[in-house]
Amino acid sequence: MERGKFITIDGVEGAGKSTQIKFICEYLKTKGIHVVLTREPGGTEVGEKIRALLLSNSTGQMHADTELMLMFAARNEHVQNKIMPALERGDWVLSDRFTDSSYAYQGGGRGLDNSRIAQLELWVMQDFTPDMTLLLDVPVEIGMSRVESRGKKDRIEMEAMDFFDRVRQAYIARSKEFPDRIKLIDSSQTIEHTTEQIAVILDTL
Ligand SMILES: Nc1ncnc2c1ncn2[C@@H]1O[C@H](COP(=O)(O)OP(=O)(O)OP(=O)(O)O)[C@@H](O)[C@H]1O
Ligand SMILES: [Mg+2]
Repeated sequence: MERGKFITIDGVEGAGKSTQIKFICEYLKTKGIHVVLTREPGGTEVGEKIRALLLSNSTGQMHADTELMLMFAARNEHVQNKIMPALERGDWVLSDRFTDSSYAYQGGGRGLDNSRIAQLELWVMQDFTPDMTLLLDVPVEIGMSRVESRGKKDRIEMEAMDFFDRVRQAYIARSKEFPDRIKLIDSSQTIEHTTEQIAVILDTL
């Protein structure tokens, strides 16, 4: 049995991740690929409980290191109990956010040192990485205006614009550091414009 491929999709709020995921699933299905769709933080029973703690406004103040470690605790559960078993079965896995989010939000946004994040990454993942990451890039104001009508913001979405600007810049820096894995996609125009770019990239897999 050939091992499946692991694809992640990442980017700031309103970049269009959830929108494009629907297209990606359909597109891969037409190629006869069985896709397991999942998300971070979460994707498992324990992971979704950690997600609720991380994102609920009722959680209150949390030290940035605690937030980082909870993200990786949820990720460990996700990798060990969901992602790896699916890939070993030959399924493909598509995750809405993954480790690049930790570098962007806890690194860029919260200002944690990348080397600390890398320590946890090494512990949880060893040399396991996505086969491909689709990074949807959009100016923060455009992304925010797309999600404005969604109503109540979660604990991380409550952050100010400059936080999300740092998040976006950290994502862009990651894409420069790992140009083979992370495909930077302009997601500032129409949904179709983004979809077309994704289709071209998926055809290279
Ligand atoms: N290229 C686009 N142009 C205009 N609107 C878009 C575009 N892509 C997505 N949208 C719309 O913007 C909103 C947010 O998109 P979506 O939920 O896919 O973003 P997201 O990246 O998943 O956000 P979040 O990080 O908050 O989950 C949706 O209403 C979607 O229809
Ligand atoms: Mg989404």
